[in-house]
Amino acid sequence: MPWDPDQYELFSGPRTRPALDLLRSFGVSDPEYVVDLGCGIGHLTAILAKRWPAARVEGIDNSSTMLARARELDANITWTCGDISQWEPEAPVDVLFSNAALHWLDDHPGLIGRLVATLSRESVLAVQMPDNHREPSHHVAVRLAGHPRWRRALEPVVRESSVLKPDEYLQLLQPYVDTVDIWRTTYLHVLDGEHAVADWVQGSFLKPFLDALGVEEADSYLSEYRSRISRHYPALPDGTTLFPFTRLFIVAQRRND
Ligand SMILES: C[S@@+](CC[C@H](N)C(=O)[O-])C[C@H]1O[C@@H](n2cnc3c(N)ncnc32)[C@H](O)[C@@H]1O
Repeated sequence: MPWDPDQYELFSGPRTRPALDLLRSFGVSDPEYVVDLGCGIGHLTAILAKRWPAARVEGIDNSSTMLARARELDANITWTCGDISQWEPEAPVDVLFSNAALHWLDDHPGLIGRLVATLSRESVLAVQMPDNHREPSHHVAVRLAGHPRWRRALEPVVRESSVLKPDEYLQLLQPYVDTVDIWRTTYLHVLDGEHAVADWVQGSFLKPFLDALGVEEADSYLSEYRSRISRHYPALPDGTTLFPFTRLFIVAQRRND
């Protein structure tokens, strides 16, 4: 799916906050190899590199447009174009970080098993994923995709959320690590703009839908989506819109003691 860095960056402040919360939630001393899966435009990979300047840091993404932006950031980071589902590290990984990316992959039991197998003896797997698929921003998009006007084009791209329940991640991880910390946070984003929620979703969840439609059909789908979504997220008196967004965090640590 071709990602649009500019659309994604429209809300870079509120999109970055959960990643910073994730980064603050774990510590690892002197990691040698740090990997950012689904690194996008690389701004978080650069934070990882600053935090552990002696480590070899690699960002992996399958979008050449996002990686092109990342490459402008830091020449000391290795930027790798590749699919997370096929990825095999060069060495055991000490920090395996992934923010807002793994929910794009299917089969999380298989995925988590593969990721945990890449970890070194003293390491951390730190993941944040949107867990918002029950909210109007998402189910309105899916319901609209079933409308006769767009159904044929959109049927192949509508997918069930692959994000599991917290206890399922706990059970998948517990046999392989020493501690697992899992939590959900609902961020109450206050957004500016007439179509703030639609603009946000357009940069992520709606992308595959819009990409699957021709320009004219994408415009009509988006305008219908905007109109339906505004009923669920009415503007506040000052013109801003409150957008509740739930995210799931997983921090699994291995300790060599
Ligand atoms: C929502 S962006 C998040 C980017 C970055 N981690 C951040 O938090 O700003 C999701 C990123 O995951 C990447 N991605 C999605 N599926 C992927 C896959 N199967 N393999 C590699 N990258 C993938 C996309 O290209 C995109 O750059």
